[in-house]
Amino acid sequence: MSDRIIREDFAPDKHITAFQKFDCGDHDYQRSVANWIKGIDPEDSVLTDVARRGTQVWVYYNQADELVGFGSLGTHEWSLPPHGKKKVPVVIIPNVAVARRFWGKPADDPFADQILDDLRNEAQRYRPTHQALVLCVHPLNQRALRFYERHHFVVIEPPLKDGHLRMATSLAAVPPNSLD
Ligand SMILES: CC(C)(COP(=O)(O)OP(=O)(O)OC[C@H]1O[C@@H](n2cnc3c(N)ncnc32)[C@H](O)[C@@H]1OP(=O)(O)O)[C@@H](O)C(=O)NCCC(=O)NCCS
Repeated sequence: MSDRIIREDFAPDKHITAFQKFDCGDHDYQRSVANWIKGIDPEDSVLTDVARRGTQVWVYYNQADELVGFGSLGTHEWSLPPHGKKKVPVVIIPNVAVARRFWGKPADDPFADQILDDLRNEAQRYRPTHQALVLCVHPLNQRALRFYERHHFVVIEPPLKDGHLRMATSLAAVPPNSLD
């Protein structure tokens, strides 16, 4: 039987401490994700995004109560095909991560898939007003790129000015999965 994730609403007092040893990779583009949830940078972290942007954040544990990872959602406006330069409302995943020791695990129902499905399910409630589920990814983050492509995200041109790739998927496609 697969190991289903258990979700908690992000609570700074509990989770900032819980994430201090969180390891989701050694590359700068992976460390920056871990640093975000650790609240390292006083100007750019989970705390500032929750306070300033109303970002929603969830923390995921496995059935053994081990910290698996986190996911987040916010709303934004993006230029998206076929709308040209006009900005349209989108739901964004500002950050998502699975602890390195759980990458690709469990093989029969990976935690990363479960978390992304959960975020997509949460995003569904914006569907009447928001066009797409979007995210930005570092161009060297091949692992994340492969992962998002497998989940039907496509690269949207042009990239951000800082080089991050923009990816999007329609909110219309509902996967047959939920936490309930
Ligand atoms: C992105 C993340 C959530 C994906 O979770 P995961 O458990 O690693 O995902 P999976 O193992 O299911 O998928 C990774 C994919 O990358 C592939 N992959 C693994 N190593 C790779 C590499 N070095 N280069 C390219 N692809 C690679 C895997 O084969 C898999 O592709 P497949 O499904 O076609 O086989 C996780 O790696 C993570 O938390 N990374 C650090 C934080 C991060 O980068 N977050 C995203 C910010 S945009």
